[in-house]
Amino acid sequence: MKYNTCRRFVSCHSILKSAANKTEAQVKGIGCQESKTSSVLEVRGKKYVEDGWTNVTPRILSYLGRNIYLQKNHPLSIIRQKIVGYFYGNYQGHRAAPIFSVHEDLNPVVSTSQNFDSLLIGKDHPSRQKSDCYYVNEENLLRAHMTAHQADLIKSGLDRFLMIGDVYRRDQVDASHFPVFHQVDAVRLFSQSELFGENKGLKLFDKGKRTHDCQESHCEEAAKRVEMDLKSCLMGLSQHLFGLGITHRWTETYFPFTHPSWELEIDFKGEWLEVLGCGIIEQNILKEAGAGDRVGWAFGLGLERLAMLLFDIPDIRLFWSKDSGFLSQFKEGEITKYKPISVYPQCANDLSFWLPKDVMFSPNDFYDLVRITGGDIVEQVTLVDDFTHPKTGRKSHCYRIVYRHMERTLTQEEVNVIHSKIAEVAKATLGVVIR
Ligand code: DAH
Repeated sequence: MKYNTCRRFVSCHSILKSAANKTEAQVKGIGCQESKTSSVLEVRGKKYVEDGWTNVTPRILSYLGRNIYLQKNHPLSIIRQKIVGYFYGNYQGHRAAPIFSVHEDLNPVVSTSQNFDSLLIGKDHPSRQKSDCYYVNEENLLRAHMTAHQADLIKSGLDRFLMIGDVYRRDQVDASHFPVFHQVDAVRLFSQSELFGENKGLKLFDKGKRTHDCQESHCEEAAKRVEMDLKSCLMGLSQHLFGLGITHRWTETYFPFTHPSWELEIDFKGEWLEVLGCGIIEQNILKEAGAGDRVGWAFGLGLERLAMLLFDIPDIRLFWSKDSGFLSQFKEGEITKYKPISVYPQCANDLSFWLPKDVMFSPNDFYDLVRITGGDIVEQVTLVDDFTHPKTGRKSHCYRIVYRHMERTLTQEEVNVIHSKIAEVAKATLGVVIR
């Protein structure tokens, strides 16, 4: 499962070499598509002039604004809140105020300068290819990672923050790849006193050589402390998500925007799984963003992968499902195992009745009755209307019963037979009067 990986921003030798052998036009993907003349594309209320780079499709644009990661009771939102909760709970300042700010509504249309240049991603880096990104035009694209906002937020004066949102990459569509997915990125910067306290003898910066584990401008002691803070933050986060018993390992990697850089892998059911990328922010990024007097760390993780592991969700496409059989399984704050839903369509019928006058009526009695009478084809029962007659004071309930078969499409006729049977049994055993 490599759908959310940091690989694209990993500059491994083979991709760089292959990019180096291409002409600039090939890297940019020029010639793959003819340029369209001056059509205008509107995205999030802003107009963009299309050009030869434009390759976003209406279908991809239709995902903008779905905001499934913010949707109540959605598994991606549950994980998002769990992560935010970890930072709010563990990093507090004066009078328990959270010290990390959370940015969840950043515009997914970014400039190439935000997505690449501000992060020191070279002009000929393969991750810029038209075949890998959704370009709005030559200067703008749908962000390929949340890190695209890092420099802007640092520029605005923030030292500690989370960036959460949808990211877009051209990819195949299968059980573990989808062109839209979600990431949480974080940044923490330290001033000299934040890192070393009263100890004035220790410095953040030094003029030296870049080594395997330290940037040229960093003092080794500063780099070590930032690394320790980063790793303990991420260990705490993994334990918060997966439990205290997890086994993990750090592997060294390369990102153009951090040095040194690591990936965190955890042992999940006997397999090493990469869960995030992280590192010490390149000092030139901080300098350029007006925070050259600080040092800091950053990390980025994919929400889908975590949610698939934690909820046992077998297919990434399910996150986009509007099917209530999927959505109704999850509840805010709870991590529960996914129960497979049928691929056959649902069939919903409502049933309204007056409640008995003198006998106690509990909706749970009705739920049991529906399950017993309707059997396995009953997928959900919900109380959709609770009404009291203004004059008579008589109470009435309306329930929506959703039917679905695991192996075939149900016909309306056969559902009607079962639905009437439920009405009859309710009338006979619960004393209700069907309306
Ligand atoms: N942006 C990277 C990706 O999407 C993930 C990442 C790695 C983000 C390291 C970071 C970082 O902030 O420090 O592949």
